[in-house]
Amino acid sequence: MINKKDNDLFELINRELGRQQDGLEMIASENYVSENVLKAMGSILTNKYSEGYPGKRYYGGNEFIDQIENLGQDYAKNIFKVDHANLQPYSGSPANQAVYFALCEPGDKVMGFNLLYGGHLTHGWKVNFSGKYYDSVQYTTDKDGFLDYDAIEAMVKKEQPKLVFVGATAYSRIIDFEKLAQIVHAENAFLIADVAHIAGLIAGGMHPSPAGHADVITTTTHKTLRGPRGAMIMCDGDKSNPVKKPEDVIGWKESKHNLPSYIDRAVFPGLQGGPHNQTTAGITQALFEVQQPEFKEYAEQIVKNAQTLAEELMNAGLKIITDGTDNHLMLIDVSPFKISGSEAETALEKAMITVNKNTIPFDPRSPFDPSGIRIGTPALTSRGMKEEEMKQIGEMIVKALKNNNDNQVLENIKKEVKDLCDQFPLYQKIKY
Ligand SMILES: Cc1ncc(COP(=O)(O)O)c(C=O)c1O
Repeated sequence: MINKKDNDLFELINRELGRQQDGLEMIASENYVSENVLKAMGSILTNKYSEGYPGKRYYGGNEFIDQIENLGQDYAKNIFKVDHANLQPYSGSPANQAVYFALCEPGDKVMGFNLLYGGHLTHGWKVNFSGKYYDSVQYTTDKDGFLDYDAIEAMVKKEQPKLVFVGATAYSRIIDFEKLAQIVHAENAFLIADVAHIAGLIAGGMHPSPAGHADVITTTTHKTLRGPRGAMIMCDGDKSNPVKKPEDVIGWKESKHNLPSYIDRAVFPGLQGGPHNQTTAGITQALFEVQQPEFKEYAEQIVKNAQTLAEELMNAGLKIITDGTDNHLMLIDVSPFKISGSEAETALEKAMITVNKNTIPFDPRSPFDPSGIRIGTPALTSRGMKEEEMKQIGEMIVKALKNNNDNQVLENIKKEVKDLCDQFPLYQKIKY
């Protein structure tokens, strides 16, 4: 038996805690959860098996688990104004997989946003299951990096996909779900809105909601929603409708009312076994927090911070794709500074500013060393940082990129980063 004293694990967790405390976390898909979310995640709920759904389990002893899952579902329905919410997908990719599994047969034509232009792997990228098991066609952006609704319409008309994924991993502008629903439904296809990145902004009233437009909404819970790593699938429809056979799924119009049943069956038993109850509880706690009045302020501040930072970086000569942002992130072309995205990522990491390299639309470089970086403000905003700090951070980023080969300069920025982080403490009471 290894006792805790000899166990390197907790030492490593403490070091990661230090890294999170002392650095500027600017990966657009990351955030800091509350201590209550951590508490729910680390709870004894992990001990329990609960295959099935509340009231219909394949294991005994689920009295309280049922109540927790029902509570989380009620919160999700209230926040996103939908009839049905499934909180069981293990993460965002399995949630999307469940949607394909629910609505398509292998080989069906599906359509999604190309990864290299801002979409996600699961929206039909060639190496992903979604591009391998289905006949995937992909749309891109226009030359300036905006979604091109006319081109999407033309592609939907020509290709006649069974479903169309919209939503993004690296797109900084408002997505017009209403317009997309008109386009997609005109051809009797399903519209799937993957709002993983912007779910918290939708909940906080800073981005139009796909509810009432998209047939199915998927989201991760660990980005702007400030929950644990997990996901939800939401839709309208009547769960009490009897579903006879999977072959019933013949088209958008015929299937709409049965969507809750199709989705639930695809998640379990289609793809998963027992839900991760500790995660369901963490999501439920996060959704409780989302419903507090402060969350609206938080969502507003995320966007203000992103816009302030984008302005600062553009003034310094960097190219922001689409020349700005409406949401929590920006895609930056670093080539005006004569460096690559990888070099930028490495230089910033030395200064304890964490970002990721990213392709830009029509990137002349390879995805392994692209022209851009993607940065976001959700995590810094969770720490309480505002416009003033964004200006200071913008200056630090510019200095680091301009001096990417000068370790002394990067070391000095790292000290400045530490001083700034100390003013916005994080998880002070936690030690593993
Ligand atoms: C738009 C979008 N969908 C789905 C996912 C997948 O989520 P996960 O990494 O939890 O599988 C991501 C992750 O970044 C995403 O950005």
